[in-house]
Order: sequence, then C-alpha cells, then structure tokens
Amino acid sequence: MNVLNIQNLKVLFRAGEGFVRAVEGVTITVGEGERVAIVGESGCGKSVTSLACMRLLNTPPAYITADALTFVSKDGKTHDLLSKTETEMLALRAEEMAMIFQDPSTFLNPVMTIGEQLDEVFIYHMKMKKKEARRHSIEMMKKVGIPDPEMRAGQYPHELSGGLKQRILIAMATSLSPRLLIADEPTTALDVTIQAQILKLISERCEKEKMSLLMITHDLGVVREMADRVYVMYCGKIVEEGTVQEILENPKHPYTKALVDTVPGIDERVERFVQIPKSVPHPMHKPSGCYFSNRCSYCTELCKKKQPPLRDIGNGRTVRCYYDAEELWEK
Ligand SMILES: Nc1ncnc2c1ncn2[C@@H]1O[C@H](COP(=O)(O)OP(=O)(O)OP(=O)(O)O)[C@@H](O)[C@H]1O
Ligand SMILES: [Mg+2]
Repeated sequence: MNVLNIQNLKVLFRAGEGFVRAVEGVTITVGEGERVAIVGESGCGKSVTSLACMRLLNTPPAYITADALTFVSKDGKTHDLLSKTETEMLALRAEEMAMIFQDPSTFLNPVMTIGEQLDEVFIYHMKMKKKEARRHSIEMMKKVGIPDPEMRAGQYPHELSGGLKQRILIAMATSLSPRLLIADEPTTALDVTIQAQILKLISERCEKEKMSLLMITHDLGVVREMADRVYVMYCGKIVEEGTVQEILENPKHPYTKALVDTVPGIDERVERFVQIPKSVPHPMHKPSGCYFSNRCSYCTELCKKKQPPLRDIGNGRTVRCYYDAEELWEK
C-alpha cells in the first residue's frame, strides 16, 4: 500500500510575463514503511515537489496540478491533499506527515525556549496540560540523543549548535509518530562529522515509529545510507527510478551515471571527485528535446529534437533516455 501517491504532479510559478515550470509531471510513490529518496542537483525541483505535497507553497505564485496527490493516514483513510483546507493540512502536517528542513534555525522561534516549543506540540495536538507536556518533551529530547535535556529545555535556540537544533527539529517532527517523514537535505547545513549522526538518528526514528521516509538530497552517498528506492530528478522531471542498489551498481541514464561518478567510493573505479560538465539550465531556458542533452556525452540528433519518454525497463526500473532504446530511434 502506498502512503504517499503522487501522479503526474506539475508545479508552475508565475515569473514576469511567463512561467517557470519547476515540476513537470512527476510520479512518485512511497509505500508503507518504505524509505524513498529523490536525488538531483540544485534547482531540479526536489524541494518544490515535497512542498507541494505538504501544501506549503503559496498559490499563487505557484500553480499545482496532479492526476492524484493522495496520502493515507494511520486510520487507513485516503486524503486528497490538493482539496484540503489549511486547517485540515495543519493537523495532517503535525500528526501524519511531518517535514524537516535543511536549516533548523529558520523553524525555531528565537524568543521561545526549546522546551516551550516542544511543549506546544503536545499541548496543541494532544491537549496535554503544561506539566505533562514538559514530561513528554524531556522524554522526546532523550529519544533524539540530547544530553542533559532538563537544562537544554530552558535554553533558547541560539544557545544550541546546528546539530542539536536539528535534533530538536527531528524531535518535534516525530513526536506524534507521523506516518510519513519528509526530510529535505536535513544534513546539508551541518558539520560533516555531525551529518552521519543525524542520518543515523533519522533512520532510528523511522524504524522505531514505523514511519515511511521521503529523503531529499543531492548526495548519492546519503541515498545509499538512507533509502531502499530512489528517483533521480533532473530539470523538473524524473529521469530514472529503481532500487538504490540497482541504480548505484548499474545506472542507465547518463545523468545518473554522472551523479554516481561524482561520489568517490560508490564505484571503486572512481577515485577522484568528478564534476558533471556545465550546469543545470535555467528553468526558463531548458533545452528542447532531452533536458540533459546539452551536458550529455551520448547526445544524438534525436535527443536534441524530442523529449524521451519515461520507459519501463523491468525490475521496477524506469529510465528516460534513448540510449539502449532501439525501438524509439528514428530510422
Ligand atoms: N517561489 C518560487 N518562484 C519562482 N520559482 C521558484 C520558486 N520556488 C522555486 N522556484 C524554482 O523552481 C525550481 C526548482 O526549485 P527547487 O527548490 O525545488 O530545487 P531543488 O531541487 O530543491 O534544489 P536545491 O538542491 O538547491 O534545494 C528552481 O528553478 C527554482 O528557481
Ligand atoms: Mg531544495
């Protein structure tokens, strides 16, 4: 059963006279207890996809459409996310589908103590009294590995390191055992030494609370650690999908191959840090044909002319590329 079902999601932003097509028909599913990753370079639409699911984009300037955008809550009920009111979404976001972001500072109130902010989750959603809420807050802080939680509860966000703040955010996001946790680059802003600890904590929390995970990252190293299945996204489209093991061991799309090559150690043959030539095109100036064509060393005339379809290549894998797809070649 799919907890999150995104079918043909499109997100446009009005920009001057025209539109930015940030997400162009993306289909993503997250099964019960499954750990799914979306990977791709900056600007390819990963955050916009997740924010659209959480209904955290202002409309306008965003215009969201989808054939389906549904979520199944703990009681088995299917919710059409696009037709929810803001009040309904507020409840869903706290209790059923929680999100953690890259920069924890932005989501903590600088003039409230850590304890007060955690207490609010229990007071507001569980209707607890102050004292009982604080007991739960301290318990949660222990669960996310915060040393001396009683002391930390009385501190303000600026008194905590980035890693500790992210732990607090993870505590807040997971305290009501949501069904789905969306983590958007949760370790990018942190010290490298802290990153592995935070990833481990997210994994542990998901396992303990039986949460599904949608992990958003530009780093295939993180994908390898955190996910079972992965969608590779480029310029607003999915270009490849498969199990993490298959995608890492046998990438089919030239973009995925290039991404794999950027991570030293994933493929033993790659010893150096490699860069993909050129950069992601501006969303208002995507190339005609395949969006990766201007950076691809396998590019043909057909690739420049016509967008390749997302092809099912069996084994739960799809790929959007003409290479290896003789049936699609123009003779
Ligand atoms: N409010 C907005 N108005 C106009 N364009 C936007 C808006 N938000 C995002 N975009 C555009 O949508 C595209 C996708 O952005 P998104 O933030 O989803 O990228 P991303 O894959 O998350 O990148 P990163 O790795 O840098 O976080 C970008 O080109 C971005 O400029
Ligand atoms: Mg992003």
